[in-house]
Amino acid sequence: MIDVRPLRASDAAAVHGLLGDPHVASWFRPDDQPEPYTLSDCQELVDRQMGHWAAHQFGMCLGWEDEECVGWSVLQHTIAAGFSEVEIGWTVASARWGQGVGTELGQHALDRARGLGLRSIIAYARVDNGASRRIMEKLGLSYERDFEHAGRPHALYRRLLGA
Ligand SMILES: CC(C)(COP(=O)(O)OP(=O)(O)OC[C@H]1O[C@@H](n2cnc3c(N)ncnc32)[C@H](O)[C@@H]1OP(=O)(O)O)[C@@H](O)C(=O)NCCC(=O)NCCS
Repeated sequence: MIDVRPLRASDAAAVHGLLGDPHVASWFRPDDQPEPYTLSDCQELVDRQMGHWAAHQFGMCLGWEDEECVGWSVLQHTIAAGFSEVEIGWTVASARWGQGVGTELGQHALDRARGLGLRSIIAYARVDNGASRRIMEKLGLSYERDFEHAGRPHALYRRLLGA
């Protein structure tokens, strides 16, 4: 059972356990900048995400098993294809890929969106990220269109949530 908890200001090392791994980082990096993220990069990300929590009372959570961080589950404001949206997202420690962890973390973000009464959420991934796109489908999101993000083609999915 994964314990999903809101991000804390002291979680940079846990995030670095994910993004410091080149197998994970390569999904977020441009081709010409393939190196994993540093601890200082991760502290900046945590600081930004803590700011999102303070402003909106929702944001990034980390998933823990026996005090080991196995991934993140994010619910956050974003701009995608020129529209302001709320996004769900996930990332899993590479040692745990293929075991349903990403789906569980995604379900957690979706449940939080529903609990907040949101009417629409999106998710997006690089078009070649088959595992992430499969999670979107398993969570009931529907493909909407491709769009350019960070210089690469991405696929945008949406789910409308009932009133
Ligand atoms: C994408 C990621 C979160 C998936 O996590 P995971 O824990 O392995 O995912 P799950 O095990 O819950 O489910 C993956 C699903 O995708 C399927 N899958 C795996 N690789 C696939 C591929 N190349 N093409 C299509 N489907 C694929 C799996 O079979 C599974 O579907 P199933 O349950 O119907 O069999 C993980 O690989 C990761 O963190 N990648 C690096 C960072 C990243 O890409 N984050 C998301 C950015 S949008």
